[in-house]
Amino acid sequence: MWKRIRLAIALIGLFACTSFVGCAKREEKVMGIKIGVSVYDTHDAYLSALLSEFNSYITEKAKETGIAMSVEVQNSNGSQATQNNSVEDMIDNGCDVLCVNLVDRTDPTVIIDMAQQKNIPVIFFNRELVEGDIERWSRLYYVGANAEESGTLQGEVAINAIENNDIDKNGDGAIQYVMIEGEAGHQDSKIRTETSVAVIKDAGIKVEKVASAIANWDRAQALTKMSGIIDEYGDEVELVLSNNDDMALGAIDAYEAAGISDEKRPIVIGIDGIDEGLEAVRNGKMYGTVYNDKEGQAKAMAELIYSELVTKDFSAIEFKTGRYVRLPYAKVLKSDTIGTKYSR
Ligand code: GAL
Repeated sequence: MWKRIRLAIALIGLFACTSFVGCAKREEKVMGIKIGVSVYDTHDAYLSALLSEFNSYITEKAKETGIAMSVEVQNSNGSQATQNNSVEDMIDNGCDVLCVNLVDRTDPTVIIDMAQQKNIPVIFFNRELVEGDIERWSRLYYVGANAEESGTLQGEVAINAIENNDIDKNGDGAIQYVMIEGEAGHQDSKIRTETSVAVIKDAGIKVEKVASAIANWDRAQALTKMSGIIDEYGDEVELVLSNNDDMALGAIDAYEAAGISDEKRPIVIGIDGIDEGLEAVRNGKMYGTVYNDKEGQAKAMAELIYSELVTKDFSAIEFKTGRYVRLPYAKVLKSDTIGTKYSR
């Protein structure tokens, strides 16, 4: 996957620019844009899909504007110290703008200080920095989504499953559920976990948590954790809520590995709408998911870069509050037309 992305990156920087014709008044003559992207972990399924979209939008923007654009992606392997060093390297290598997916979203200080010193704008994405930090300098931005919305929509997908299917297998009037959580301290993890269950309870449905497990957004880790839960509780679980699709797929893998038949398996619901998640919704292995608009986020990042470095005109950027751009989520159910909207 990453080899393919790198190849795409190498193909982007092809368009030399000599002059601007008919551009907005305040546009500067920009000959080329070097974009440095730092990711907390390039093996993350959703982020790898998001970055592939980002590369496509940058390629498009380069063609549209005639400005040469190149993208360099660095993996932080889950270490904030590694991320700080690679951001420093990208600054030294002459990057004009940084896109940073923080490892530790509460610790952007070193990066902000380095960027501000060299006057290089930073677009933080996906892992939300706290408000006090974004206010430290006017060339800092955030592109992501509203975590609470994803939790609410996941809760609504669960209510749909409970109301339209006979999922209370033991008939005790309560839904026994397992929560598979992303990462401790991550805004999406914490808020999705709290909100989805609160929404189900608010609908007057009785739920009982059988177990919860942290699987760091990762399918293999979720397989291991869910296998342990199956060993302990067999086919007692009626609903699996997962903070993302990759871990939901890992939970399904665990049921496959345990040889539990489809009728005895719980309803599984994810978030993200990555290709494999959508496929699982289509083939009925997963009941539903919540689409995390990677195309919208990637496009917003590309447009922000262009506004920041070229036009200085931000009127087309939809800031929600301050310098935060948040793309909406959407429910994906097999029965919805929306399910087909996101099908490839
Ligand atoms: C979330 C996404 C997860 C994971 C995480 C990484 O928004 O739903 O799948 O990619 O970001 O920060």
